[in-house]
Amino acid sequence: MGSIRHVVSMKTFSRKEIDGILDLGDSLEAAAWGEKESHLLAGKVLATLFYEPSTRTRLSFESAMLRLGGQVISVADAKRTSSVWKGETLADTIRTIANYSDVIVLRHPQNGAAALAAEVSSVPILNGGDGANEHPTQALLDLLTIRRERGRIDGLTVALVGDHKHSRVTNSLAFALANYDVKLILVNPPSLAVSRETVEYVQGKGLSVEETSDLGGPMKRADVVYIFRIQKERFASPEEYEKVKGAYRIDRTMVDAGGRDITIMHPMPHVDELSPDVDTYPGACYFRQSFNGVLLRMALLAWVLDKVELD
Ligand code: CP
Repeated sequence: MGSIRHVVSMKTFSRKEIDGILDLGDSLEAAAWGEKESHLLAGKVLATLFYEPSTRTRLSFESAMLRLGGQVISVADAKRTSSVWKGETLADTIRTIANYSDVIVLRHPQNGAAALAAEVSSVPILNGGDGANEHPTQALLDLLTIRRERGRIDGLTVALVGDHKHSRVTNSLAFALANYDVKLILVNPPSLAVSRETVEYVQGKGLSVEETSDLGGPMKRADVVYIFRIQKERFASPEEYEKVKGAYRIDRTMVDAGGRDITIMHPMPHVDELSPDVDTYPGACYFRQSFNGVLLRMALLAWVLDKVELD
């Protein structure tokens, strides 16, 4: 491989690359369930370096590497259990871990941390979420989920509901959807809108974007309703959070009301914005979505480590 293949932003992906990665993810399902042994990444080491808590991103990447025959080293709480605690910079930490591994997944609270890591790293950096900026591997697994649930992405109406101001997933998913013929509805309280920069970027790519604070209309029209947690931990003060707490909650009555086949997604973890009675709705796919994270991350690891060609 000539240059290093980092995954920092969804903006750098073409539709052809995305479709190729989704196809590859689909093809790895037997290995992801452990039904077929794979040695594709034997001898390779993944380092997961997380400065913020995670269940799905860290463990699905680790599962993906192990399912492909590779090995994993992990820092789950970098600020407390690594030399970051002693004041080591992100750049020095990345340079060091790149000596111990073939690929690094980084989650960090600062916007732009993954780009900085990619500048100094001698191995691929996979952005596992940088502040409120981007979470590209989540967006890719979300596209895979939409395609697996609905059989296509083009032609769908997708409503993203909740806290877009603090959501790195909203940014990455909007950038990703801009590669498809999709109608995007952003539903949020006025104070939690996505940045104008993101809206203008995706509109510039031809994506149809509607913004509203009303969930009722989108529940009647959208094929996919993707709801987000209001991210309490990212508010400036508890008072600011209280103003929007509980702004949206989807329950089974709302889902059944339209008599339509809706796909309900959530990046997880969910708290009170999704009633537990939605879990048994056939179109509620957030646990399948979290499994798709393994498929997608297997595909990404194989791709950035130059073990596969995309179709
Ligand atoms: N969706 C997601 O990023 O989940 P985690 O925070 O558990 O990794």
